[in-house]
Amino acid sequence: MKQRLVGFFDERMDLSALRRWAKEKSVPQHKHSFWYYFGGLALFLITLQIITGILLALYYSPNPAYAHESVKYVMETVKYGWLIRSIHFWGANFLVAVVFIHMFSTYFMKAYRKPREVMWILGVLILGLVLAFTFTGYLLPWTTLSYFATKVGVNTPSIMPILGRFITRIMEGGRDVGAATLTRMFTLHTVILPLLAVLLITLHVLLSQVFGSSVPLSQANKREAIKFFPNFLMRDAAVWAGGLAILLAMVTMFPAGLGPKVNPVMPAPVGIKPEWYFLFVFETLRRFPETIAIGTITLAVLVWLIVPFLDRRASRNQKSTFFTLFGAAVLVYMISMTILAYLTT
Ligand code: HEM
Repeated sequence: MKQRLVGFFDERMDLSALRRWAKEKSVPQHKHSFWYYFGGLALFLITLQIITGILLALYYSPNPAYAHESVKYVMETVKYGWLIRSIHFWGANFLVAVVFIHMFSTYFMKAYRKPREVMWILGVLILGLVLAFTFTGYLLPWTTLSYFATKVGVNTPSIMPILGRFITRIMEGGRDVGAATLTRMFTLHTVILPLLAVLLITLHVLLSQVFGSSVPLSQANKREAIKFFPNFLMRDAAVWAGGLAILLAMVTMFPAGLGPKVNPVMPAPVGIKPEWYFLFVFETLRRFPETIAIGTITLAVLVWLIVPFLDRRASRNQKSTFFTLFGAAVLVYMISMTILAYLTT
């Protein structure tokens, strides 16, 4: 049966290239190989987000009069609706964490060096998209917390000179967060961002197939490798199964909650703070003058984006301690600001 099925496609389109790819592709093995699993795990999690997101969209209504009710209906009446919504909620948190781990691990292994510069730039753009997914999805349940936190979020860019107010207006679609904002966030979350994400991730993963996995400089003399198909793919699948098990444990122990519906004319509740992955930005804005904070963050993001072109030593396959220290400083800053925000708010 299998032979006939393969034969059917082989006769019509030449599968020999695919067969050659499966036979030849291998993955280097050394003491840092563990980090190679995070790209695949991110791919698995984003697929799960797309599937659960489509299921949620079957019931969701992007209208302030019905948005909260439609989410409540999914949680209380739709069969397994709570499960799908909770997987989408926890999956988003896991995805952000895994993408950050994948980014820092490829950074410290200097995987951005020639010829993978474009993979790195695509990666930074994909991280921006992942964060934009979480931001646009946050308003959709139309709860008190999601409404007022989004209000703070959409107003933050207006601090920036020149383009700031324009960005805020585009996101709001009016003079305040309201029905137009909800429609915009919904369209971004379910149409525009998924299209961009599929495009950029496809390119990113295709390039990873073209170049194969990079080997960190410290391991350059190790020649061991395992075959991708089926050996590494089986290990990948085991990592996905482990990730899914942890995700389902969180989902069943702590299902996603649903706060009260917002009444936009009421004053904002005190002590609003963003999700954990935005806390370092929040704390930076709280501790430093706004223009300095926004300016520094914008500059840091630009430097991060073009790091493969700044780190000329790594491109020539030489050790670049300065950039390792720079990455460590960024990581330490992000973690300490996050902890500070937790402790002081
Ligand atoms: C949803 C987001 C992402 C997905 C699905 C994804 C997927 C992948 C996959 C499947 C690989 C090949 C396996 C591996 O080396 O792990 C890879 C490699 C890579 N990714 Fe990503 N990635 C994502 C985000 C990012 C981000 C945010 C960055 C950095 C800013 C990044 C930078 C890289 C680099 C430099 C490599 C090459 C690693 C090497 O050859 O050693 N990726 N990615």
